[in-house]
Amino acid sequence: MSTVAVVPGSFDPVTLGHLDVIERAAGLFDEVHVVVVHNPGKEAMFPIAQRVTLLEQAIAQAGLKGKLVVTSWSVGLLVDYCTDVGASVLVKGIRSQVDVAYEQPMAIVNRNLAGVETVFLLPHPANAHVSSSLVRQVAALGGDVSPYVPPAVADYLAKSELP
Ligand code: PNS
Repeated sequence: MSTVAVVPGSFDPVTLGHLDVIERAAGLFDEVHVVVVHNPGKEAMFPIAQRVTLLEQAIAQAGLKGKLVVTSWSVGLLVDYCTDVGASVLVKGIRSQVDVAYEQPMAIVNRNLAGVETVFLLPHPANAHVSSSLVRQVAALGGDVSPYVPPAVADYLAKSELP
């Protein structure tokens, strides 16, 4: 039986840390859906459609296409998406104890809601300090974010007028 996994996130924008987790998930599961989800707790910098485009470009540049599906989900529970596509696993990256504290209640609620388990992956230590919020802040203040993001995102940020 094949296992379908979902890697959800705001991806605002996708970072090298995200790509690392996506690549590890692609090596573990038969089919992996990378899903851009609106997080009402965060003020987004980029529209969801743009985040999907950047993810698609980053995944293509990294040579990770194939068994990856990239899409977005903005209506209803994330586990509803999982049920729709037959996914039994959510995959999240964990950088620190702060991430564990943030992710633990969501993992329990998602399991209670629909029996969807969450698998936590440890990113490469080189990416342990990388976050989308840090990238947004450095980019908005004119700094170089190329060490933290895929080339497609670095190019896009260099050309964009950021708030
Ligand atoms: O990259 P983020 O912002 O940490 O991702 C968090 C996200 C979007 C994955 C999380 O907020 C989420 O799962 N949202 C979906 C809404 C939902 O289903 N909530 C109820 C169960 S936690």
